[in-house]
Amino acid sequence: MFFRRYKWPLFIVATIVFLATIAPLSARFAPSKATAFSIVDHKHPISPTISSSRPTPSSLGCSATPPTTALESDTEGRFDWRTIAKHNPVEQYRQLPRGTPALKSSVQHKFGATSTEAKNIIATRREAVRDVFKRCWGSYKDRAWTKDELAPISGGAKDTFGSWGATLVDSLDTLYIMDMKQEYADAVSAAVEIDFGPRTDGEINVFETIIRYLGGFLGAYDVSGCHDARLLNKALEVADMAYAAFDTPNRMPVSRWSPKKAVDGEEQLPAESMLIAEAASASVEFTRLSQLTGDMRYFDAISRVTDVLDQQQSLTKLPGMWPISVNMRKPDLTFDGFFGLGAMADSVFEYLPKMYQLLNGVGAVAVQYQKMYEYAMSTAIAHTLYRPMTHDKADILIAGANINGQQDYKGQHLVCFAGGMLALGGRLFDNNTHMDIGRKLSDGCAWTYKNAPNGIMPEVFSMPACPTMTACDYTSPPGSSPFSEVGDGRYVLRPEAIESIFYMYRITGESKYQDIAWDMFEAISKHTRTDFANAAIPDVMKTPPERYDSMESFWLAETLKYFYLIFSDPDVISLDDFVFNTEAHPFRIPGR
Ligand SMILES: *[C@@H]1O[C@H](CO)[C@@H](O)[C@H](O)[C@H]1NC(C)=O
Repeated sequence: MFFRRYKWPLFIVATIVFLATIAPLSARFAPSKATAFSIVDHKHPISPTISSSRPTPSSLGCSATPPTTALESDTEGRFDWRTIAKHNPVEQYRQLPRGTPALKSSVQHKFGATSTEAKNIIATRREAVRDVFKRCWGSYKDRAWTKDELAPISGGAKDTFGSWGATLVDSLDTLYIMDMKQEYADAVSAAVEIDFGPRTDGEINVFETIIRYLGGFLGAYDVSGCHDARLLNKALEVADMAYAAFDTPNRMPVSRWSPKKAVDGEEQLPAESMLIAEAASASVEFTRLSQLTGDMRYFDAISRVTDVLDQQQSLTKLPGMWPISVNMRKPDLTFDGFFGLGAMADSVFEYLPKMYQLLNGVGAVAVQYQKMYEYAMSTAIAHTLYRPMTHDKADILIAGANINGQQDYKGQHLVCFAGGMLALGGRLFDNNTHMDIGRKLSDGCAWTYKNAPNGIMPEVFSMPACPTMTACDYTSPPGSSPFSEVGDGRYVLRPEAIESIFYMYRITGESKYQDIAWDMFEAISKHTRTDFANAAIPDVMKTPPERYDSMESFWLAETLKYFYLIFSDPDVISLDDFVFNTEAHPFRIPGR
């Protein structure tokens, strides 16, 4: 069960490993990437006579408060991760905060009526996105059913991701949102049969398992109205495996974790160097699961990690941010000098405002997330963002990095999520500066798409920086290419740029973001189309671009979902009702 593919570009991981010439690199430095209601029915308490206390369909529904009796998974004869030996039991579980929802302002723009003409254009675009999705899904079904990925050029199948059917689980909520009823029903029936029991000696990437599989089941459960107990049951099943990776002396997680060793009773320790996103971004998924099940173990697990982040936030080499590489065995988050909002850190930052929103702003815990977020963003804004020089003097920002105190002017496609995050946080915490920066970052990603030779941003690039973020007077603009260097020319069907454009549209209501999205969609669908589906591009700087035989599960889980939603009625998965995990799985905010 080796994960060989990651949301993060491998070469960046390699660079980081090289840069972070840190302490004992005993840990294998393999790479990786980086939400409230429930099921209470006091009239029908869960009967102890049915095998343990599994959620029963009759007791389901979207509720504002967790069940009073914790729900457990019914593994129906499959492996039960609760039965393995525990080494470091928790004496008392942290509890979800209780209280009246304290979210201040609404996130989404108050949309008015639109003309029939505008509606028709949007509907046509929405259908075009859906057609691309349907075609990919059809090929996946015919040629790669229950495998991790479809090979979009050769038409074969790949097991690249634990071989639990990554694309199948990752696509469930998109199928539901796109109203593909029969396909959704078939996919759910197949997905609930997946066996998450230990199979080989290999290690699994706990983070990726949580965002894609646990996130996939929770998203499908929430968007479909919290009726289908099979999905919640399945979420518990995979979460109980992931939870076992937190059974360490200091309760920090093992990121590359061997299910086999765990079953054999062998204790595993957190690595002395691991990626911060892997160490610390299960918060949204585990919190949502505790909200839905009343089982506080999951919320407890991530609260302990959050406290460590909080305690060490001001002690790092760039106080306010955590570096990419951390020692979770001690734990020590202060030795590395590489900082940025991009690959390998991303979701740690992204999940701070999202946790505040998922917790409905309730209690000291929500305020803790707000405080950590505001501190992190003031540092990130001052030390990692830059304004690039462009031929048209565009007023945009790019998110770079900070290495040992020096700003690094590389942009990544992956960091494009940051514009949406800052806009969301700007609304949640009433900060217009953040809103404005979120806009300029999103516009920066849109600009990069528009000015790249084939209308698609490369994976990694550099642009010359203006002296300051606000002023940029220069008489001789840079050369004909918008980039001074392209470090990695691939486009791997990533979602982050359309993700931020989607947030900007829903938050500002400006229809220009729908037009930007349409241009992006046309370029992407044209250049990535294959006989069966859509494939990654090795070099977007080459005209015409070529393709290679890869279609990661996030193409269906994220990229096409955001394209579909930006052309949908704003009430469909409203940002006031749902929080997206980092794999675009929408989790319901309790009571919404
Ligand atoms: C908004 O954020 C900036 C930078 O992070 C901070 O300096 C400012 O005080 C914040 N404004 C408000 C109104 O909270």
